[in-house]
Amino acid sequence: MQKQRIASADPRDDYSDWRQSDWASDIDDGSFWQLIRGRRSVRRYLPDPVERSLLEKLLTAAIWAPSAHNRQPWRFCVVTSDPAKQDLSERMAARWRADLSADGVDAAFIERRVRISHARITGAPALVAASLSLEGMDDYPDPRRQEAEWLMAVQSTALACQNLLLAAQHFGLAACWMCAPLFVPDLVRDVLDLPDSWHPQALITLGYAAEEKQRERLPLAERVIWR
Ligand SMILES: Cc1cc2nc3c(=O)[nH]c(=O)nc-3n(C[C@H](O)[C@H](O)[C@H](O)COP(=O)(O)O)c2cc1C
Repeated sequence: MQKQRIASADPRDDYSDWRQSDWASDIDDGSFWQLIRGRRSVRRYLPDPVERSLLEKLLTAAIWAPSAHNRQPWRFCVVTSDPAKQDLSERMAARWRADLSADGVDAAFIERRVRISHARITGAPALVAASLSLEGMDDYPDPRRQEAEWLMAVQSTALACQNLLLAAQHFGLAACWMCAPLFVPDLVRDVLDLPDSWHPQALITLGYAAEEKQRERLPLAERVIWR
C-alpha cells in the first residue's frame, strides 16, 4: 500500500525539503518520482537506431498533452536520415556562426560551440523538430488577444514536448531539448520542407544514452510564494 505523506496544515511546511531529501524512495510507489526526477537532458547517444514504433509511442504521449481549446496546435517532423541531419546541422551552424561573428565573439570559441552542436545533432539517432501551427486556433482582430492565442499555442506545444521527454525517459531513451530552431525558423522550415503554416519551436535529440547526468533544483522556497 502506498504510504501517504501527511500534509501539513501550513502549505509552506510541506515539500520544503524536496531538494535534499530522498523523498521518492520513501514511498512504495516511487515510479512517478523516478520518472520526473530521473529525466535528464542527455546530449551524447549510442549509435544504435531508435525503432520507429518507439518513436511513435513518444509522439503518442506528446499528443496527449493538454492544449488550448483542445486544438492540438503541435506539429512534429521526425528526422532519422543522416543527410537530413547533416544538412539541418550545417545550415543552422552557418547562421549561428554569422550571428556570433556579428556579435564580435572570438572565432575559435565559435568553432568550438558549432562543433559541439554539430556533434549533438548528427550524433543523435533521431531528431524531433517540434513546431506549432495556428491553423485551428482562434483568430482575433486585435494584437493583444492574438498574442495571447499565439502564446497558448507555444505553451501547448511545450507541454507536448515535455510529455515526449517524459515518455523517452519512461521507455529507456534519453533526450535533450535544443532551442536553435527558434532562432532560425525559416531555415528549419526550408531544410525539412515543412508546411508554410508550421512555426518551428524546438529540436529534440533522441537516442540511447551514452552519458549520465546529474542535476539539482533550487529549493521550492526560492521559487514559490503562497498567498
Ligand atoms: C526551452 C528550453 C530550451 C533549451 N535549449 C537547450 C539548448 O539549446 N541546448 C541544450 O543543450 N539544452 C537545452 N535545454 C536543456 C536545458 O539546458 C536543461 O533542461 C537544463 O539545464 C536542466 O537540466 P535537466 O533537463 O537535465 O534537468 C533547453 C531546455 C528548455 C526547456
